[in-house]
Amino acid sequence: MCGIMGYTGYEQASPIILEGLSRLEYRGYDSAGLAVQAPVKTTEPPPLQVAKACGRLQALIDKTRGGADLPGSCGIGHTRWATHGIPSKENAHPHISEDGCIAVVHNGIIENHYDLRRELIAEGVEFRSQTDTEVIVHLLSKACSNAPESEKASIIGSVLTRLKGAYALGILFADEPDIIYAVRRDSPLIIGCINNGKQQISGIMASDIPALLPLTRQVFYPEDGHIIKLTTQGISFYAYNNDTHTVTNVTKSYGDPVTLTLSENAARLGHYKHFMRKEIEEAPQAVKRTLESGLTDPDNPFFTDGALLASVQNIRMIACGSAYHACLVGKAAIESLCRVPVEVEIASEFRYREPVIPHPSHTLTVLVSQSGETADTVAALRLCKSMGIPTLGIVNVQGSTLAGEADHVFYTPAGPEIAVATTKAYCAQVAAMYLLALQLGRAKKVLSADEQEKLIRELTSVPEKMEQLISLESDLCRLSQELASARHIFFIGRGMDHALSMEGSLKLKEVSYIHAEAYAAGELKHGTISLIQDGTPVVALVTQPHLLHKTLSNVAEVKARGAYVICLTTAENILREGGLALSDVADRVIPLPATHPCFTPLIASVPLQLLAYHVSVARTLDPDKPRNLAKSVTVE
Ligand code: AGP
Repeated sequence: MCGIMGYTGYEQASPIILEGLSRLEYRGYDSAGLAVQAPVKTTEPPPLQVAKACGRLQALIDKTRGGADLPGSCGIGHTRWATHGIPSKENAHPHISEDGCIAVVHNGIIENHYDLRRELIAEGVEFRSQTDTEVIVHLLSKACSNAPESEKASIIGSVLTRLKGAYALGILFADEPDIIYAVRRDSPLIIGCINNGKQQISGIMASDIPALLPLTRQVFYPEDGHIIKLTTQGISFYAYNNDTHTVTNVTKSYGDPVTLTLSENAARLGHYKHFMRKEIEEAPQAVKRTLESGLTDPDNPFFTDGALLASVQNIRMIACGSAYHACLVGKAAIESLCRVPVEVEIASEFRYREPVIPHPSHTLTVLVSQSGETADTVAALRLCKSMGIPTLGIVNVQGSTLAGEADHVFYTPAGPEIAVATTKAYCAQVAAMYLLALQLGRAKKVLSADEQEKLIRELTSVPEKMEQLISLESDLCRLSQELASARHIFFIGRGMDHALSMEGSLKLKEVSYIHAEAYAAGELKHGTISLIQDGTPVVALVTQPHLLHKTLSNVAEVKARGAYVICLTTAENILREGGLALSDVADRVIPLPATHPCFTPLIASVPLQLLAYHVSVARTLDPDKPRNLAKSVTVE
């Protein structure tokens, strides 16, 4: 995915856009660019001023002297995660019409761009990039020349009818001073407005809230397909009618802007070296807020909709990446506490396997997504809705696509998560799973009120235990130095520990580039143990009392073959009572505070995240922006 930003107002646009892009860079960072309307208003509007650079945003900042080389108060910018075409200056956005008078920035994918490209080339258009996006600017140019008198919103609408796929667009016309057009379909876009009280209004558009926070808290969440016109007199919204080829002003339907409640620091680095480290430290409070919201906020389905939960006969959870791993923890917890069957699916698999869903009306489908924009998860939601299956979204980003389309939504109030590798949001997702388990257990009368109360009491003590573990950082830092040179690392566990081992493995490999693999501890001996040799690091999760000795046998098996075993356990005291010292079978022991076995993934995630972070730093990598990755994958 990519980040787009636009500003029109009374300040110099370039510095504002560059600052906004720096707060969106987690969305993609292989090239960047911006286009600004020249300040001189002559009879013949001058072409747009454009600058692009390959590499991180800093290259563009350096190239434009912080934007000073592009004066003007109206512009758009873009930071890219390449989909079509290599990272290069030519493929960087904005893409410009042949006459230099139209500029477009785009987040998403135009799926029919090959056909459109062929059509435009046949009409004599010369393409300068390999991107799908470039077809948009040429279609706009062609529509403007065919209907020069039409309103630009109507011209944009006519072009949108040609596009298939997902897009959030920022569009600049040289002959429309101080005006930006924006539009979204299946890609995130937020519109901000600043009214400085002197009838001076500035309009801002951005892919995500962090880019807007320093400027305004007054925002609009535009509907799919609506065309937004940002001017220094105000913001208008239009709906395009495909039949009459006209636009209708629908601004009134938006009412007043929504006021963001996030603190401006929420998306700032502060004194930390990396966002990932900051967000690990924020994880306990994110969990605390999530639990408070789920247990006390009367407006969420976990708490009020007993009817919804009481009729549930089975649950299906669908997600990607770490959100999928949170669902695996949820499955283990719900089946253990509620005895309700849970199926967990990877969204990109679910959406294409023509799923057979028995008793759809009694199947609660839970879709989990930090961004609420992951293309596969959103597509899976839409498939479920088309099958009449009730959907619950567990989402971190307010106003995101998934939040807007699910039948019910529960927001995990983890706050903006900037690092590409999720930490606090993953923990909040796991906390939400426990809330679902406790409410479901109560609604299904599997948990008595006392049992539920006791579990809630233990669960609400978990954030403090997570905070205690951050004090282990110096030990983990030393351990990370040892692991930094490893080529392969294994994570093993059984049951709940296996679910967590998958997240521990993903966290490490995505920020350190070390090959890591999670394995069910009992399965290792069926082949993969052949990869264990002298010094192979194995991270063993040993937190489930009923599986303790089974897992320890697996640990002994890898130890006997030379593995270097790092054991995270809540069981050290149990073993000592049994005369067993864990140090007999593990090279390093990371003790975890005791808690209910279902809740250990929340606690153990802190050392696993810190370990991944410090291995990345030890390998002099950037844990916030790992190569090839993006914060939310809004393309297939
Ligand atoms: C997590 O560290 C990864 N960045 C990635 O697996 C992520 O969890 C996945 O892409 C799902 O994103 P979402 O939660 O925004 O849907």
